[in-house]
Amino acid sequence: MIDRKAFRSLSSGLYLITAKAGERRCGCVVNTLVQVASEPATLSVSLNKENATTAAILESGRFAATVLAEDAPMELIGTFGFHTSADTDKFAACASAVDGAEVPYVTEHGLARFSVRVTETIDVGSHYLFVGVVEEAEVLSAGDPLTYAYYHAVKGGKTPPKAATYNNGDEAAVPGVTETAAGAPEAGKKIAWRCTICGYIEEGYPDGLPEGYMCPICGAPREMFERVEL
Ligand SMILES: Cc1cc2nc3c(=O)[nH]c(=O)nc-3n(C[C@H](O)[C@H](O)[C@H](O)COP(=O)(O)O)c2cc1C
Repeated sequence: MIDRKAFRSLSSGLYLITAKAGERRCGCVVNTLVQVASEPATLSVSLNKENATTAAILESGRFAATVLAEDAPMELIGTFGFHTSADTDKFAACASAVDGAEVPYVTEHGLARFSVRVTETIDVGSHYLFVGVVEEAEVLSAGDPLTYAYYHAVKGGKTPPKAATYNNGDEAAVPGVTETAAGAPEAGKKIAWRCTICGYIEEGYPDGLPEGYMCPICGAPREMFERVEL
């Protein structure tokens, strides 16, 4: 018996993993960065084999990691978590820097950053588990880290299929958001539209989203939105 709800109780943070292959800068959101040894300080991260960032790490043998702060905007998470570096320069709209090995890392909304040299790559099916030694570690700012639970419950975010912890879309309901059929909203509530891909909520538009509307976070078309009441 496998009860998918059991996986919801695993807790983690949200991070940006970045890498560079040649002149191409790549990066993606993960919730699978873990410190796995203290001496030498070692991190592991699980990355989908289809991610552009995975290809860059396989080629360069290095990655950088930024620990996201709780106030990281959905736009930043949307860019790095729902688009691919294969056709988007994700660094164009955010503050970044490079480490001693010229690997780019995101500085905005970051609490800390690490530079990692990969020492082992383990094939775990849909994903590679990259294990590597920390060569640089730095505190960027003070604040609370963004947890996976906070991302789901407070920011209303969703997990895309390529994430290591994707469980067939089985996610806990967001408090205060009710899925509804057409018709007048319940007294005291208002109609809104929720993107079924990334969880972004567009308020207003009681008669439906306009033609040509696209999600500002993940780029999904209006057909991918469901009606909700807030
Ligand atoms: C909350 C969240 C957690 C994610 N966790 C992971 C993860 O642990 N591993 C992974 O491979 N992808 C994860 N993803 C998905 C990647 O960020 C996403 O597929 C991204 O578009 C890949 O970008 P790339 O092709 O530029 O590498 C996650 C996305 C989100 C929004």
